[in-house]
Amino acid sequence: MTTRAVVIGVGHYLPERVVPNSEFEQSLDTTDEWIRTRSGIERRHFAAEGETTSMLGAQAATAALKNAGLVPDDIDAIVVATSTPDLTFPSVATMIQEKIGMTRGFGFDVQAVCAGFIYALTNANALVVSGQAKRVLVIGAETFSRIMDWTDRATCVLFGDGAGALVLEAQEGDGTTQDRGVLSSDLNSDGRYRDMLYVDGGVSSTGTSGKLRMQGNPLFRQAVEKLTSTATAALTKVGLDDNSVDWIVPHQANIRIIQGTAKKLGVPMERVIVTVQDHGNTSAASIPLAMSVGVAQGKIKKGDLLVAEAIGGGLAWGAVALRW
Ligand code: UT7
Repeated sequence: MTTRAVVIGVGHYLPERVVPNSEFEQSLDTTDEWIRTRSGIERRHFAAEGETTSMLGAQAATAALKNAGLVPDDIDAIVVATSTPDLTFPSVATMIQEKIGMTRGFGFDVQAVCAGFIYALTNANALVVSGQAKRVLVIGAETFSRIMDWTDRATCVLFGDGAGALVLEAQEGDGTTQDRGVLSSDLNSDGRYRDMLYVDGGVSSTGTSGKLRMQGNPLFRQAVEKLTSTATAALTKVGLDDNSVDWIVPHQANIRIIQGTAKKLGVPMERVIVTVQDHGNTSAASIPLAMSVGVAQGKIKKGDLLVAEAIGGGLAWGAVALRW
């Protein structure tokens, strides 16, 4: 028997305020047409004043717990992927723990920017398969609107706020790829690419939280290549290939990156979950948001093989293969 971390609940939360591309035309030299054709984004959600990352994450966690039919104290651990914490510390995970009324277990944050959810899911899986936790809430939650330079048209039109969550539970499998649960993961980073995507402030340097800076075009080229290789690596580790994939659940940064990666992987777009048009790039929240929407739309079903892949600041990138 092999212990697997199986998804038993999923949920998401998006802030109320929806901002269409046209809103940026009033303050920036940009157009709805440019944003749509270059990125695939049509609208995004922005958190209200005073609405923090832990608030979004707590809503998503509550939805995922409800979906799993569990109460907060059924959970042993919370792993949160975020680069936009409420405060420098404590962790967003402990803030969510308090907000949802969970009085036991432990929580911590993982920071790998847009690849954060892949890293968090890999860590959560390790907690489950090593027997340290039976049930884990894995959350991606972000308020990227807080780190936008609103005068930089090349970045501020691309990002959005939101949160998504999964509940993982230890279940016994046969040790084959027919098992439900996380089957493999592939993690990578290369700090030499730091300047492609970073925030120009921080606690131990400027003492400020800073604004996001991105070299979009070079990053675009890195993204398609690295996302294809990491997705392939995650599948190959367990003897699977692109033909076995029911759904690609990609990081939602740009529809052209999503299409380019799917094409290289040989998976038709009908088998790719796409939410970038409605959410923009929500960094670590984008994959669990896409999973939750994919389930709500009746696309992702129990037993389907998913490969989730993401890349972001670091550069850090990776993929997880899992059977839903
Ligand atoms: O989540 C982490 C991973 N993130 C990514 O992987 C993002 C990767 N990059 C991208 O998605 C794309 O590179 C962008 C959407 C950011 C940009 O698309 P692009 O096709 O690479 O355009 P570009 O950066 O080469 O810019 C083309 C032109 C430039 O003008 P010139 O120099 O050709 O005159 C830009 O100044 O588009 C201009 N531009 C804009 N024009 C209107 C840049 N932003 C805008 C804008 N509206 N908002």
